[in-house]
Amino acid sequence: MPLIQIWSALLYGVAGFLVFLILLNRRLILRPDGRAKALLSLLFLIGLTGGGAWLGFFLHRLPWILVPLALLCLVLLGEARRVIIRRFYAGTRSVGTVPHKVDITKPITTTDLVVHRYEVTHPKWNGKLLRIVHLSDLHVHHDLPLAYYQDALAIAEQSKPDIAVFTGDFIAGLDTLPKLREVLRPIAKLESYAVLGNHDYWADADAVRKVVHDSGLHLLSGESIVLPVGDEKILINGYDYPWNINKKGSLPQGNCRSPLSVIDRPFFKARANEKGSLPQGNCRSPLSVIDRPFFKARANEKGSLPQGNCRSPLSVIDRLFFKARAGSADPADSSLIPNAIVQESNMLHIVLSHTPDNIYWLSKSYADFVFSGHYHAGQFRIPVLGPIVIPSIYGRRFDHGHFIVNGTHLFVTSGIGVAAPPLRIYCQPDIFIVDIVAGNYSLPTQM
Ligand SMILES: [Fe+2]
Repeated sequence: MPLIQIWSALLYGVAGFLVFLILLNRRLILRPDGRAKALLSLLFLIGLTGGGAWLGFFLHRLPWILVPLALLCLVLLGEARRVIIRRFYAGTRSVGTVPHKVDITKPITTTDLVVHRYEVTHPKWNGKLLRIVHLSDLHVHHDLPLAYYQDALAIAEQSKPDIAVFTGDFIAGLDTLPKLREVLRPIAKLESYAVLGNHDYWADADAVRKVVHDSGLHLLSGESIVLPVGDEKILINGYDYPWNINKKGSLPQGNCRSPLSVIDRPFFKARANEKGSLPQGNCRSPLSVIDRPFFKARANEKGSLPQGNCRSPLSVIDRLFFKARAGSADPADSSLIPNAIVQESNMLHIVLSHTPDNIYWLSKSYADFVFSGHYHAGQFRIPVLGPIVIPSIYGRRFDHGHFIVNGTHLFVTSGIGVAAPPLRIYCQPDIFIVDIVAGNYSLPTQM
């Protein structure tokens, strides 16, 4: 067999595998867990990698051999872009600890819980040091001992936090709810808040809600509260989006699914990635030439995005899909995003959102701090290179740590537990302690 054929098969195979990884990171991993997801992932893996290699045997001449090379270059460019964006959003480092610094000879880190502490000065905060402890993704599981979860909460409590935030995914399955009852309890001086995660919704949101509530935590699923702290007040919101989308309704976030938006989608996405939200009256895709004035009209009226009632001729089909995703959103949303209150009062605005994917539109909703989990920091990491898979429409951009996006501080913890399989490789579970200290206040200029 000619050497060129082997090289061609190898190149096509690698290119196919990279396409599979991109699909897995940005699409497949977002689907609900189950056999369908596993089967689909396996089919894509075999189809793209094996099929790619098989194709390479036959397409070993010019110009076909250049196709996988071009694809590899594109992937490398994408990675370079990710690194630049991450640097742009980089927040502070944890004090005295280095995340993911693990002993290379000890790859299994499933219960190697660490605490990372961050210090942030915020101009809106004028009170005494405000300590927030952040726990996420307990995923209470039969394969991990009860004491592990109880110790995690005890460690968090020992830091004497003013506020505790639990950002979802409490269980691995419904049968672990009794175990969760033995773990959960309030651990903060003032209040312990929580939102639900995708696994809670996939299992039984109401059942998890009941346990969380009965355990003394304040569940903030689609709720806003004002918490007095000394002479100051804090506004705290909880968002379960997008998993409660049918009940509460919200906007489609850069992932429109209607047949007409096939061409629009990349453009929506491009804008969503850059600016962190939906297209605001200046869609640029070929299909949206007619849509544009209508979007614009709404943007002028509301200063915001089309919310399930686009009116252009082209968007007849889109409308149904937008609407399906949006539900009866407007009134609920406007009460959930109390921009006016935040702007007028200059209260510190803290948001709990299970997925960090909400960061861009939350940053536009005047959120000062967003606490998230969901990613498990990848759960399986390669030293130096980082996570293999992150369940995010932004891929590995916000995998773990502290970021500052449009002035909003985003904290993404690795979480405490594990999703299936119950294993962490070179990826420590962690708890964040965030100390907010007073700074000189000035009105935000970038929104
Ligand atoms: Fe999770």
